Amino acid sequence: MPDRPYVYEVEGLSKKYKETSSSANTDISFHIREGEFFGLLGSNGAGKTTLIKQMLGLIRPDHGRVRLFGKDILTNPRFTTHTVGYMPQNAFALNSLTVREAVYFSAHLRGLSTRAARHQRDECLQLLGLDHLATKVARQLSGGERRLLQLAVTLTGSPPVLVLDEPTNELDPSRRRQVWTLLRQLNQREGRTIVLITHNAVEAEQVIERVGILRDGALVALGAPAELKAPLDSQVRLSFTHPGTEAPVLPDYVRVHSCHRGKVVAFLSSADVSKLAQEMDLTCFPEFTMNTATLEDVYINYA
Ligand SMILES: Nc1ncnc2c1ncn2[C@@H]1O[C@H](COP(=O)(O)OP(=O)(O)O)[C@@H](O)[C@H]1O
Ligand SMILES: [Mg+2]
Repeated sequence: MPDRPYVYEVEGLSKKYKETSSSANTDISFHIREGEFFGLLGSNGAGKTTLIKQMLGLIRPDHGRVRLFGKDILTNPRFTTHTVGYMPQNAFALNSLTVREAVYFSAHLRGLSTRAARHQRDECLQLLGLDHLATKVARQLSGGERRLLQLAVTLTGSPPVLVLDEPTNELDPSRRRQVWTLLRQLNQREGRTIVLITHNAVEAEQVIERVGILRDGALVALGAPAELKAPLDSQVRLSFTHPGTEAPVLPDYVRVHSCHRGKVVAFLSSADVSKLAQEMDLTCFPEFTMNTATLEDVYINYA
């Protein structure tokens, strides 16, 4: 979609916290277009949260600038709060409210009338499966439930841009799937621009269009998942468990990546797959899988 306008223009962002010796972000530049679903990956401490806080105007960069729909983020704070729904990594300010109050108040704060705010509250609670928790106080929720409430609050007011810091963290697998489906619908049906940080690379790969990978504060990869996977395309990942204490001897063209508690992950060239199948009976292992590279492999490769 090269003709769509830029939502975000991030140019040469650098940030060093006073308390730390190394930079949290170093010369980061990238653009996000309207309607894009963009994912940020990177290990703990790679600088992801610092980066998106600068994209919200919550942290002032030492160098560089961020434009949102062409406007400088730091000189237009009101425009930013009206345009972007931000879900922080942890802080939740509405702890003493009930679930339904929290969603209602944030909708109202974002400018909806009493009636519209009530309507949106009911819609959001239903969308995220929070109906049965409506009268519970936020403080008493489990980690995952609180995450869902935070997402509901972020969605109120229907901001055209969503910036989400680890939205699927702490969710059980079925809730995670529900959230990914909801985000995909918001992106595809309503054309919302979504920027999110996640560690669930395999799940993210199903929905994100473009990904940026951060390492030690630098953007080390940027592109569509398929582009980033291309160099790994000739690689096949083999994983299996073995019941014995000693790992089985593998042919030398199979590179063992990890071996822990009987679980082995190894890589081989796709050209060697048929040879391996002839030389070893993999079905003798109780569990084995073979698959081509995933976004997680790309992530591990860079991180
Ligand atoms: N408020 C802060 N004060 C000092 N150092 C910080 C602060 N926030 C983050 N850092 C440091 O900056 C680096 C990047 O952190 P962060 O952006 O939170 O990473 P991520 O979200 O990728 O885990 C880390 O080394 C972290 O310890
Ligand atoms: Mg973070």
